[in-house]
Amino acid sequence: MFHNIPDAVLKRMRYLEDANKNEKTEKVDVKPHHLRLRQIPPETGKFISLVALNSPKGQWIEIGTSAGYSTLWLTLACKSIASKITTFELEPQKIELAKETFLQSNVEQYVELVPGNVFNHLSHYTGISFCFLDTEKELYTDCYETVIPNMVSGGILLADNVISHKAVLGSMINHALQDERVDSVVVPIGEGILMCRKL
Ligand SMILES: C[S@@+](CC[C@H](N)C(=O)[O-])C[C@H]1O[C@@H](n2cnc3c(N)ncnc32)[C@H](O)[C@@H]1O
Repeated sequence: MFHNIPDAVLKRMRYLEDANKNEKTEKVDVKPHHLRLRQIPPETGKFISLVALNSPKGQWIEIGTSAGYSTLWLTLACKSIASKITTFELEPQKIELAKETFLQSNVEQYVELVPGNVFNHLSHYTGISFCFLDTEKELYTDCYETVIPNMVSGGILLADNVISHKAVLGSMINHALQDERVDSVVVPIGEGILMCRKL
């Protein structure tokens, strides 16, 4: 999966990695928070695509597309088994960037981009076998509580930033670790991933 990434995907990944790095190294916040890319690092991209590929049969979703960088990693897994990822994004400027990402990378057949507030759609998704949760931290608990009942047995939910944002996410993380509907662990990769497997 990682040994033959198409040139078009690699090119867009590099472009988005540079844009994300530039935003992080800017001395002043030239862009407001909601317009910043806030992408996962490449090692997290590899991790989520490997986990997705090993999840059971079912619906794959991503909450928080931004410009489509993490989605690109997930399309590598989609391509391996000819499946699709559904990804949700609220911000119109990012929706346009993500569309550009999927078009330029020739991965449109592996992605369904759902624009607007994820909560207008999320409860309609059932049979979920993989979920990557990477949105505003105050939405994590509601996303978790909507997704977990709609997951298949053996389905995997991954939530990003649980180490970098431990202070804000503490109660959500503890809830997941004690939740008897899932087995969970915090994986120290990138900014910290909470990994939950539905029983
Ligand atoms: C951390 S960024 C996602 C980064 C992306 N996963 C990546 O690594 O390339 C979080 C995204 O969630 C989006 N978002 C925030 N609230 C949302 C909502 N209610 N519905 C859908 N998307 C939302 C933000 O606009 C932002 O682009």
